[in-house]
Amino acid sequence: MCGIVGYVGPNEPQNFLIEGLEKLEYRGYDSAGVAVNDNGEIKVRKAVGPIANLRKLIGDENLGGHVGIGHTRWATHGGVTVANAHPHTNMDGSLALVHNGTVENYIELKEQLQAEGVRFVSDTDTEVACMLVSKHYKELGDLKEAIDKAASEMEGTYVLVAVAADKPDMLVAHRRNAPLIAAKGKDFNMVASDFCAILKHTKDVYLIENGDTVVLTQDAITIYDEKDQQIERDLMHIGWDVDAADKGEYEHFMLKEIHEQPKGIEETLSRSLTEDNRIKLYGIEMTAEELDKYNKIVIVACGTAYHAGLAGQRVIEKVAKIPVEIDVASEFRYRDPFIDDKTLFIAVSQSGETADTLEALREAKKKGAHVISIVNVVGSSVARESDQVFYTFAGPEISVASTKAYTTQLLCFYMLALYFADIKGTITEEDYADFVEELKAIPAKIEKCFELEPFIKRLAADYYDREQVFFIGRGMDSCVAFEGSLKLKEVSYISSFAIAAGEMKHGTIALMEPRTIVIALATQDALFDKTVSNIQEVRARNAHIISVAKEGNISIEAHSNETMYIPNCRDEVSPLLSVVPLQLYAYFVAKDRKCEIDKPRNLAKSVTVE
Ligand code: M6R
Repeated sequence: MCGIVGYVGPNEPQNFLIEGLEKLEYRGYDSAGVAVNDNGEIKVRKAVGPIANLRKLIGDENLGGHVGIGHTRWATHGGVTVANAHPHTNMDGSLALVHNGTVENYIELKEQLQAEGVRFVSDTDTEVACMLVSKHYKELGDLKEAIDKAASEMEGTYVLVAVAADKPDMLVAHRRNAPLIAAKGKDFNMVASDFCAILKHTKDVYLIENGDTVVLTQDAITIYDEKDQQIERDLMHIGWDVDAADKGEYEHFMLKEIHEQPKGIEETLSRSLTEDNRIKLYGIEMTAEELDKYNKIVIVACGTAYHAGLAGQRVIEKVAKIPVEIDVASEFRYRDPFIDDKTLFIAVSQSGETADTLEALREAKKKGAHVISIVNVVGSSVARESDQVFYTFAGPEISVASTKAYTTQLLCFYMLALYFADIKGTITEEDYADFVEELKAIPAKIEKCFELEPFIKRLAADYYDREQVFFIGRGMDSCVAFEGSLKLKEVSYISSFAIAAGEMKHGTIALMEPRTIVIALATQDALFDKTVSNIQEVRARNAHIISVAKEGNISIEAHSNETMYIPNCRDEVSPLLSVVPLQLYAYFVAKDRKCEIDKPRNLAKSVTVE
């Protein structure tokens, strides 16, 4: 979704801003712009489409100045036009502002401002925020106070960053429930909505809290909390390398990130595994007494993170014998769920900024639940608002289609299940040791799955033009079916559906035709025969079957047109392996269909609006 970057320092901001915006491209956007304060003149340049269009528009022009702000916009209020792109300016062009999030009462505020003679040139809520800040700046003469006053009148979720023509050495930002960091460089300072935008220049950041207003000059970052008290926040050093956000030898981030899964699993596991092979969770500690307080676990997430939760639900119930409910975050709040202080709530999110997940978490906290989150982005809003955080160490995930975050989220659920089972005594020592060994073996087994790549490329070449694909499976396989289907549809735009294999015959089987592809997951030893029956049912209706089974289960070939084998493993952990060929299939099909793989149409990496 929208991205923000701002710079104050001795150099001209232009390159810092445009390169920063390029690093934010992965979040999804449809227009971009910059505003530079060139010694009292605010120069604004905006273009629809990729940043390359903005670069082309600016060409060799030198925008000058020492202060600037930039923005990538993912349209919400008003279409994709230059007028609606950010930065927005006030009527005389003496103030420019960028904004992430939404101003919910913008219509009311706009009408008030119009009655006072303000003329608008866009359809956006951002222009309303800009005009409001401008009005208060004219009254108060202080940019920080003007932003604070405007923010006190605005409802919604947002970050605002403003520059004023008569302040050529300063920018001011305000945060309310949308991500914002302030980064400290050697002789410059920056703000951004995401670490990626500043990583090339510095790794030292302040996490700006809700309600904070931050004033940046070349020499100082001054933070005021919501009570308007100047406050010292801890300076955090980011551990990621700038290369982590580069494609390296790969053509796409998605393929690179699929291949980074063994490393992500190793990193995540190593932080929670003691030398004597016990699970000691990184970031979470619970006594038997504490765990006993909870009568159920509720998992809430969106998209791929939700699919990881589906597997998490099954494994926690099976191994730790605790009842688990799961819901998509966008539904959770609106069904008035039974949550109280006996609920252990688990929010799952790669970005930690997904608005639906964040709101669900807040609702659960309000009702007294203890909140644990499984999050990839350190210091993100979900992480900060949780009681305890269990970080995944997948590294930065740039491709909109989530891959390595999913497998590390799954791993966290296995570790949580084992940790709880150990505390509650619901697992034998032998089984515990066997499970841990299985987890330790996963990175090498995923590497083995990569050997399927040439075969999957061939499958993709043969079937990339099939417009209808179904993913079926039972037990843990049904959870992976949902993830495989989401991957395929989001990167290749093929209509793909996932369904529990046993449900097919209750309606969906009516859709089977000779050109239909059914990807059948049959990795669960305990359910193998039943899955084979379901495969036979769809094959009898002429569907084309691509199956995924554990090595050695060659009987599946008699019921399939194509078969992919994953290494042998316990049934519970098979999602960590069986998802890999599905990710690769989605990737190569999308490539053959010439889709924009890392930034699929209409999608954003981080969905920060409800
Ligand atoms: O950052 P989050 O994990 O909270 O994001 C949740 C979903 O938006 C995300 O998983 C989305 O479904 C991905 N595009 C899937 O590949």
